[in-house]
Amino acid sequence: MRIMESTAELQARADAVRAEGGRIALVPTMGALHEGHLTLVDAARAKADEVWVSIFVNPSQFGPEEDFERYPRPFEADAAACRARGVDVVFAPEAGELYPDGHQTWVEVDALTRPLCGAGRPGHFRGVTTVVTRLLLAAKPHVAVFGEKDFQQLAVIRRLVRDLGFDVEVLGAPIAREPDGVARSSRNRLLAPAARREARALARALDVAERAVADGEARADEILARVRAELARAPLAFVEYAELRDPQRLEPAPTRLQGPTLLALAVHFPAASGDPGARVRLIDNRVLHPHLHPEDPS
Ligand code: PAJ
Repeated sequence: MRIMESTAELQARADAVRAEGGRIALVPTMGALHEGHLTLVDAARAKADEVWVSIFVNPSQFGPEEDFERYPRPFEADAAACRARGVDVVFAPEAGELYPDGHQTWVEVDALTRPLCGAGRPGHFRGVTTVVTRLLLAAKPHVAVFGEKDFQQLAVIRRLVRDLGFDVEVLGAPIAREPDGVARSSRNRLLAPAARREARALARALDVAERAVADGEARADEILARVRAELARAPLAFVEYAELRDPQRLEPAPTRLQGPTLLALAVHFPAASGDPGARVRLIDNRVLHPHLHPEDPS
């Protein structure tokens, strides 16, 4: 496994692999790798001859009040996990490599980035789409793999790739979960112990909604009421949003669900750190598939 820090070096390797007819799959990450990231590596492996993982804690996608400084950076463990999973190249640039002196070029996706995480994190998706553009230009992959855990991010990146005409296939990978159902996240380890136990409320709320829909419930407000009631059973939880939206355009769902519908959650919990105000933000989601009755308008 090679570890590279220079964009020029990575591009040269991409050209060499491509010249020999090899296929490259890129898995962009911010490191602190866990089994969720590694399932993306496996999905990438199935699609390509070479699997490349980028590890870069991207400053421009963190807000001023967010956890950029606190974000874990266990590089040696990450490199070892990549090696053990058969990764061919780890790209771990310094910030100056992706944001050269005087950097002033941004890539921005419009309407899709406004709701959900975009509403509470202004500038976040601009940082994501700018760095992903940079990573795609550096690695020249045939396939780029992203997790459905960050459902909106995946939708935004699909839009970016279509709108700018990038010659890359975007592959979505299913949400990997801890044994108790909590979606795997680098942030789980930052939770206070009681909060970690309560974090199960997100997955439980998704299950409640899925069961309601399976039982024939199609009223959006009724489904959301059950979701909120489930989240309310976790007293440490502060709900940032719990919303039903159309999975492609992320527009609000109709009052009666009429087709596949995204249920997206963002919930804050107290952090384990000494700072009593410190919070950890968790997200989770599921696409609900309501029964369509003949009397439903379509
Ligand atoms: P990061 O949070 O490190 O996540 C890297 C990739 O792993 C993302 O595509 C994310 O959706 C996926 N992922 C994380 N947890 C997952 C889980 N439990 N199941 C499935 N996939 C999971 O997302 C980012 O980094 C950054 O925004 C990035 C795209 C790298 C741009 O900086």
